[in-house]
Amino acid sequence: MPTVRDVRGMAGDEPITMLTAYDAPTAELAEQAGVDVLLVGDSLGNVVLGHDTTLPVTVEEMHSHTAAVVRGTEEALVVADMPFLSVGVEESESIEHCGRMLKEAGANAVKIESGPHTVELTDRLTDLGIPVMAHLGLTPQHVNRLGYTRQGTSQDAADEIRDLARAHAEAGAFALVLEHVPANLAGAVTDALSIPTIGIGAGPDCDGQVLVVDDAVGLSESVPPFAEAFGDVRSAYTDAIGDYVEAVEDGSFPTEEHSHDESSLDFD
Ligand code: KIV
Repeated sequence: MPTVRDVRGMAGDEPITMLTAYDAPTAELAEQAGVDVLLVGDSLGNVVLGHDTTLPVTVEEMHSHTAAVVRGTEEALVVADMPFLSVGVEESESIEHCGRMLKEAGANAVKIESGPHTVELTDRLTDLGIPVMAHLGLTPQHVNRLGYTRQGTSQDAADEIRDLARAHAEAGAFALVLEHVPANLAGAVTDALSIPTIGIGAGPDCDGQVLVVDDAVGLSESVPPFAEAFGDVRSAYTDAIGDYVEAVEDGSFPTEEHSHDESSLDFD
């Protein structure tokens, strides 16, 4: 498994594979399958906790799920996503929240949904030894301002994303997530940076790709147009649960094989 420094050096090299994970068993399976980076995304809110957006996710929830993912891995690179308003309000509070993800939960780095307001913070965190993965394009924490639509589609918006990408790379970010932006913009940003870009809905020219694990394995009810289900875990899951319900109802489970008698017990 690569370190933060390895990932930083992977720009223009082997494609980087990143996948979200929210719990220890998933982290273990993803690590065994050879995923380079595990992102404890704040998509936790929609994917696991049943919220409509990522906005309600708390620092405590991210902390707890990050620690679970760390416990599930031997040596994977684990990146903790910083939830809505946990960074960017007060600098000392931002540093404390990010620091807890490394000091207490055991993450190797943090991801921050980025903008003009996170350039200085990225610099400061990097100086303090907290590696930062930046995130531009569609940033779901800005859903009320941007919606969930494609970003960087006008020349001005594309130029702004490229400028912000450069600014975050110069501030010390070790990698950049580009979400739901045109492939030619992602290609241009990738060419302009010495740090790797990791795309989601950003075309094939990024240095790596990231997907939400439930989308990738086919557990989500529906998959965004830019993602792909590489399995059908949803059917396997519901079939297995259905078989269990049927077996209990028809009395075929449990059998003697699943039970034990204690010979010292006497009920006469
Ligand atoms: O929260 C998340 O899962 C993310 C990825 C989709 C990049 O930010």
